[in-house]
This record gives sequence, C-alpha cells and structure tokens, in this order.
Amino acid sequence: MQIAIDGPAGSGKSTIAKLVATKLGFIYCDTGAMYRTATVMAARLGLDYGDEAAIMAHLKDLDITFKPSPAGQLVFMAGEDVTLAIRQEETTNNVSQVSALPAVRAEMVRRQRQIAADHDIVMDGRDIGTTVLPNAELKIFMVASVATRAQRRHKENVEKGIMTPVATLEQEIAARDQKDSTRAVSPLRKAPDAIEIDSSNMTIDEEVQTIIDLVNKKR
Ligand code: C5P
Repeated sequence: MQIAIDGPAGSGKSTIAKLVATKLGFIYCDTGAMYRTATVMAARLGLDYGDEAAIMAHLKDLDITFKPSPAGQLVFMAGEDVTLAIRQEETTNNVSQVSALPAVRAEMVRRQRQIAADHDIVMDGRDIGTTVLPNAELKIFMVASVATRAQRRHKENVEKGIMTPVATLEQEIAARDQKDSTRAVSPLRKAPDAIEIDSSNMTIDEEVQTIIDLVNKKR
C-alpha cells in the first residue's frame, strides 16, 4: 500500500507521516530530505544552486540513504550523517532553487519510485500524489496557516538549537510556498483525488488518527 502525504512547508507532514508509518509498520520516505541533501552537496562543492549540469554531474552518483533511529530518521550523504546539516537555514533557504531544476527532479522521482517499488510506504513531499506515486491508494494534502506553520518550525528549530525568530520563519515559509507552488515542473499542488486535512487546530494525535481511519477504510 502506498500513502502519499503532500503539503506546504511546515504543514506537519513529516511528523504525521513518520507516526502513521510507525503505527502501520510501513517504511517512511522523506522526499524533502533528498532535495535538501542535494542542496548541501551543491554548497559543499561550491556549485551555483541554479547550475543544473554541474549539480547533476555530482548528484548522479551521490548515495543518499535513510536510517531509522529512535530520535527520528537519520539521513546520510555518501555515508556521512547530514541529518542536522540539511535543516540549517542556508539549506532551507536555497533548496527550492535546487528542487526546481528539472533534471534534479527527474533523478529524485526515479529514486523515490524505486524506494516505493517493493514496500508498503508512507512518502511525504510536494508532488507525491501528483507525480511520484499517482496511483497511491491514499493521498493526503495537509494544509495549515502560515502562522501555525511558523510556530511549529520554531519549536522544532529550538529543539535543534536553531534560533531563527518566528517572524523571519513566517517570511521564509511564505517565500518557499511561493517558489514551490509556481515552479514549472511538478509544482506543489493538491492531486484531484487527495483528501485535504487542515491541521491548524488539530493535535498530532487527531491528525494521525484521521489518517489511520482513512487507511482502514481503504483496506
Ligand atoms: O519537506 P521539506 O520542507 O523538507 O522540503 C524541502 C524542499 O524540498 C521544499 O521546499 C521543496 O522545494 C523541495 N521538495 C520538492 N518536492 C518534494 C519534496 C520537497 O520540491 N517532493
């Protein structure tokens, strides 16, 4: 079974997707982490974030892997743990430029489909229901107000020692929404058959249960 969870930055997708996957015993794939890793790679190599050819030359052979851990999921780039590096502001503020490159998207979509091929999976991102897994049995589109999303990101950040003010996060989130929704290839969009969940006034438990109920209806 494939469950696609899409939505804008900070809508709570990753938190919910991870919990749903754990409850169901499915694997979880955080596709945003893959675009973030490509962005870290470009920064480390001093590449321009818009230089598709140079980024692709290195990304093609770049090993990006996930490893479950009690603290969440760890992300590795060529064997190096980049779990924290991919959440730094430099990465967050430039990932939309890298993820808009058509060749980068094609490569990531190919890898994501491969990961989903032989597992029950919960996959979260921006284009999972529309492009990566168009036949997913359940598609969720999560939304929440910019204020709610900035507050959530702030709380997550503080736990990681990142101290960006809420007002800055609101601006960054709105800017990223704008870039992700208006890019030419696979923009952030609700699939016609996706179920929208507005999580602004829901607890995490309520959101998880809503999705589990929907899964049970499908089985
Ligand atoms: O989900 P997260 O906020 O970590 O995603 C980081 C960025 O990666 C998004 O802002 C977007 O530019 C890109 N992304 C994407 N397609 C996906 C997942 C993420 O373009 N499926």
